[in-house]
Amino acid sequence: MSFRSILVAVDGSRHSDAALAHAIELARDAHARLTILTATLSPPGIALTGPGAAVVAASAASIEHGFDEILRAAVDRVPADLPVTSVLAHGPAAQAILNEVRRGDHDLIVMGSRGLGVARALLGSVSHRVLRHAPAAVLIVHAEKASDAPAPEALGQEERGASVSR
Ligand SMILES: Nc1ncnc2c1ncn2[C@@H]1O[C@H](COP(=O)(O)OP(=O)(O)OP(=O)(O)O)[C@@H](O)[C@H]1O
Ligand SMILES: [Mg+2]
Repeated sequence: MSFRSILVAVDGSRHSDAALAHAIELARDAHARLTILTATLSPPGIALTGPGAAVVAASAASIEHGFDEILRAAVDRVPADLPVTSVLAHGPAAQAILNEVRRGDHDLIVMGSRGLGVARALLGSVSHRVLRHAPAAVLIVHAEKASDAPAPEALGQEERGASVSR
C-alpha cells in the first residue's frame, strides 16, 4: 500500500524523533506529501486582564515559543529536496491531530508510542486517543534506547557472547 499524504506529529520527544525519521523515509519512498504538526495547548489570542495577566500571558508566550522551536527543529531535519508543510496547532494534541487529518485528507498518521510524559505505559494518552479515533492508518513508532533492551544478565550465555563485540 502506498500513501499519498503523511502527517507526522512531533512533541520533541525521542519517540517522536523516531517517528519523524520514519515519516521522512516513507514520504520519500512513496513520493507522498509530508506535513509535520505540533500542538500547543495555549489557545490563540487569549486576552487576559487584571493582576497576573502579564505573567500568564508571558508564560503562554514562552510555551508557544517552545512548541514553535520543536516544530522548527523537526522541519530542519527534513532533507531540502523533500517538500514539507508545517502546522502549529492550538488545543489538545489528539484533537489537533485528528482535526488536521480530516482537514488535510491525510491517509497516514505517524507518531511516537509515547512522548514527553513520564508514564511508563506502552502508549501515551495522545497516541492512544489518536489510534482509537483515527479515520486513517496510524504508524506508531517506539524509540529504542540502550536501557530498553534486555540487560546482559537477562540474556543466555550464548546470546551474550554473540551480541558483544570484542
Ligand atoms: N503536543 C503535541 N503535538 C504533536 N504531537 C504530539 C503532542 N503530544 C504528543 N504527540 C504525539 O503523540 C506521541 C505520543 O505522546 P503522548 O503524549 O501520547 O505520550 P506521553 O507524553 O508519554 O503520555 P501523556 O502525554 O499521556 O502523559 C508523541 O510521540 C507525538 O508523536
Ligand atoms: Mg504527552
